[in-house]
Amino acid sequence: MRAQIDYYCNMFKNQFPAVAKTMKGLENILASELKECGATDIKPGNRNVQFKSDLKSIYKINLHSRTALRVLIPIANFKARSERELYEQVNQIKWEEYFDVQQTLAIDSTVFSKTFNHSQFIKLKTKDAIVDRFSRLFRKRPTIDLQAPDIRIHVHIAEQLVSVSLDSSGDSLHRRGYKKSSGFAALNEVLAAGMILLTEWDGKSDFVDPMCGAGTLGIEAHLIQNNIAPGLFREYYGFKKWNNFDKSLWQDLVQEAKEAISSSEHSVYASDRDYSQIRKARQNLDQDFTQGKIKVEVADFFKSKLQNEGSLIVMNPPYGERMKEDEIDRFYKSIGDRLKNHYKGSTAWIISSNMQALKKVGLKTSKRIELFNGPLECRFCKYELY
Ligand SMILES: C[S@@+](CC[C@H](N)C(=O)[O-])C[C@H]1O[C@@H](n2cnc3c(N)ncnc32)[C@H](O)[C@@H]1O
Repeated sequence: MRAQIDYYCNMFKNQFPAVAKTMKGLENILASELKECGATDIKPGNRNVQFKSDLKSIYKINLHSRTALRVLIPIANFKARSERELYEQVNQIKWEEYFDVQQTLAIDSTVFSKTFNHSQFIKLKTKDAIVDRFSRLFRKRPTIDLQAPDIRIHVHIAEQLVSVSLDSSGDSLHRRGYKKSSGFAALNEVLAAGMILLTEWDGKSDFVDPMCGAGTLGIEAHLIQNNIAPGLFREYYGFKKWNNFDKSLWQDLVQEAKEAISSSEHSVYASDRDYSQIRKARQNLDQDFTQGKIKVEVADFFKSKLQNEGSLIVMNPPYGERMKEDEIDRFYKSIGDRLKNHYKGSTAWIISSNMQALKKVGLKTSKRIELFNGPLECRFCKYELY
């Protein structure tokens, strides 16, 4: 076993290629985060960023990145023209050098290909190829655990080019570990953090989300404002189950992150007119790390006004799926009117998939960014409220 562990450590001793996945529109933000964590050769792509890294930076990215969904380490790249070839190539990878037969396994796949069009089948073929290799060599088979596997393997296929990676995150990094309750149409944490970072907010002002739902934007703003690493609340990471897990390095990085937490004099205000949403937000917000600095209340935005000049307002209003067209148009017009008349001296950003309704806001848009909220194409619009 020792030889195996040494092999593994050596493999990740120096710089090696890695790729972090993210959402469309957040690639450049992620690229800057990777640089901060010590990555080199950073190349933003489409919903991902490629880079070179050592093991320490992989740990740091998992702990500190607000916009990475997963951090993958490719271990094999090859061409496959059929499922048979895919099976054979995966079967040839020396899996026994990466993990023991007693460890559990899960496989993810993303497939963009005319040759391979069934992502479930790709997972099955990959699993068979790995399990069959262990059966042949050791007469034992690793078991599958879809929730918290020891080793999560990612297979990416673009036409006939296959990339097989180890998933160092193990589970999507948007699962920060702080959310006790998820509201209706809650934002993904990675998108929420990415939106705030896209505003270029320096954290030195109040943050306001007047349609906060379960409070995702407010929590992510608080984490940014107080330099709290988003990974501090989460126990499970894929790399912790790897044979080469360097526990003391990880503990040092966690300690460093805890010591770097600052205490902003500014606050986050989160409100919603729906009491049931605010109850959920409170469950998420009333935690040790918020130090009472996130103020939550039931309030109708159309009766509210700006508390402190210079605040940043970020809103994710309803997109109008369950409203009539003229009703949603009026709703967005009222948002614009309220901002114009009662939020002077601040900057507001609105995200919505309803392009028609966004036009009704009626304020000059000083920036417009394309983002996706799940499958919904959105615009994230900036308004300076002089
Ligand atoms: C898309 S959800 C926001 C989800 C939130 N960003 C999250 O991550 O949980 C829209 C929210 O706007 C709230 N809302 C709608 N009209 C409102 C109003 N006039 N004043 C305050 N909140 C309102 C709804 O109750 C709903 O919670």
